[in-house]
Amino acid sequence: MKDVQLHNLTFEPFISEAEIEKVVMALSVKIDKDYKDRNPILLIVLNGAFIFAADLVRQLSIPLRLDFVKVSSYSGTESTGKLGEHFLWNMPLEGQDVLIIEDIVDTGHTLHHLNHKIKSQNPASVEIACLLIKPIAYKYPDVIKYQGMEIPNEFVVGYGLDYNGIGRDLGSIYKKKDI
Ligand code: IMP
Repeated sequence: MKDVQLHNLTFEPFISEAEIEKVVMALSVKIDKDYKDRNPILLIVLNGAFIFAADLVRQLSIPLRLDFVKVSSYSGTESTGKLGEHFLWNMPLEGQDVLIIEDIVDTGHTLHHLNHKIKSQNPASVEIACLLIKPIAYKYPDVIKYQGMEIPNEFVVGYGLDYNGIGRDLGSIYKKKDI
């Protein structure tokens, strides 16, 4: 695989399609087991999680429902610490088992706020599944029960993740190259 250029930055291959597939498969096995007979609502965090979620839900065999929430707290390669616009989901969450599907957890700011909002609707349970987590950057106490893969504190793109609007369509994951 070759480096890719996005805007002013160069990115190098980091996680291959085959590795991503293994991670998604392992997560689906755990989720299938834990949510057997529970019919959870999977709340997909847009935009970044759309590809991960599409692959994950097709691996799952449990009955489930899907809804979407749009959140943004990133600008360029940095978390702004502020939660951007978000469109609320349509489904009532009261009494439901909610599983938040997030692409990547960095500081945890986005999820912390989302978690708080969801909990205010009195769901039966709320858990989080993410494809990637940067443990060094993570600064909240919320437990992330389903973690695909830990990565260093690097800025990554591809498989749904963008750098200022581009790179989401790359099939595998690339990290910012130090030049
Ligand atoms: P947090 O709120 O700091 O945890 O950031 C989470 C959100 O920021 C994710 O949903 C992504 O949209 C975005 N994000 C965090 N790290 C990266 C990255 O390395 N590449 C692209 N987007 C990222």
